[in-house]
Amino acid sequence: MESIVWLEEWLATEFKGALLMTSHDRDFMNRIVSRIVEVANKTVTTYGGNYDFYERERAVRHEQLLASHKRQQEMLAKEEEFISRFAARASHAAQVQSRVKKLEKIDRIEIPPEEKTVRFQFNEPPRSGDDVAAMDRLGKCWLTPDGVEKSVFGGVSGIIRRQNKVAVVGVNGAGKSTFLKILAGQTEPTTGRVALGANVEVGYFSQHAMELLDARKTVFETMQDAMPLANIGVIRNLLGAFLFQGDAVDKKVGNLSGGEKSRVVLATLLARPVNFLILDEPTNHLDIRSREILLEALQSFTGTVVLVSHDRHFLRLLVDRVFEVDHGEMRVYEGDYSYYLAKSRAEAA
Ligand SMILES: Nc1ncnc2c1ncn2[C@@H]1O[C@H](COP(=O)(O)OP(=O)(O)OP(=O)(O)O)[C@@H](O)[C@H]1O
Ligand SMILES: [Mg+2]
Repeated sequence: MESIVWLEEWLATEFKGALLMTSHDRDFMNRIVSRIVEVANKTVTTYGGNYDFYERERAVRHEQLLASHKRQQEMLAKEEEFISRFAARASHAAQVQSRVKKLEKIDRIEIPPEEKTVRFQFNEPPRSGDDVAAMDRLGKCWLTPDGVEKSVFGGVSGIIRRQNKVAVVGVNGAGKSTFLKILAGQTEPTTGRVALGANVEVGYFSQHAMELLDARKTVFETMQDAMPLANIGVIRNLLGAFLFQGDAVDKKVGNLSGGEKSRVVLATLLARPVNFLILDEPTNHLDIRSREILLEALQSFTGTVVLVSHDRHFLRLLVDRVFEVDHGEMRVYEGDYSYYLAKSRAEAA
């Protein structure tokens, strides 16, 4: 995040050239760009504004297109009715002819195929105890290659409560992934302990989760393995919610793009009846639309979430607590992401 903000500031203030970029980070684009070029439906369309403007403007233009399409359809229907009514009458031959000609010349307004989005529905997960994870003076040391113990953090105590949505933030290498691994039971703490509450079912998405997929299997087979009791319709529906439609479900996992692989992993993860999601950079490879789908899914999730993400828009709309890992310590901010930003800025000043 700090690196993104640095780059953002450098581009906005220092860089004097022209810039053409692709990005999946809305906030980044909103701060930097003054035009958006959309490549979709086999055409390229330019919008004179930032990403928020583009989104609003695209919706307005789409409405206008629908309205003119409707008007044209009504006009065409009238003309065609006239033609068929008088086609058989010699007295109207000339009029009918000219109308047929006129109709042939009209460019038909086409509506681009609606991007179908199936909304993701969680199966209501079983309810966990109110204290989901209790941390008691947690600490972690890793062994460096030359056998020296290096402390990542220590003395972390606190409770993650049911339905908390926690963001874990900090610079690269601060220890975010290490913390999540301990919570998920992927590695033992060096000191202290963490106790999971009653009926807590963990779903863990690691920063390297995609590497664990079987490249030889298809998307459908991968999903089927994750939910062997589900029927074909349910599996297809779930995959549809994660933007795998039609024969895309038969693609081999090994041939998928980074974003597609993440979507497969997230789909298999969210399909299970888990109530404690531990997500390490799930937004990383996802494009903006997929991020929105994941965001909506997590917003409606009735369980507990702890996640790392570098997408500020995502965090702002999701989390209600922020854990900051900084120089071996963890600071807890009891508020949403905007509260954290304001508070940590005030502290730094
Ligand atoms: N298995 C390991 N063995 C030795 N050192 C490790 C191991 N895993 C992580 N570390 C070290 O622990 C520190 C914290 O790493 P961690 O992956 O938790 O950081 P992070 O905050 O998730 O960073 P990023 O934002 O880059 O994902 C780093 O200095 C890293 O090199
Ligand atoms: Mg990490």
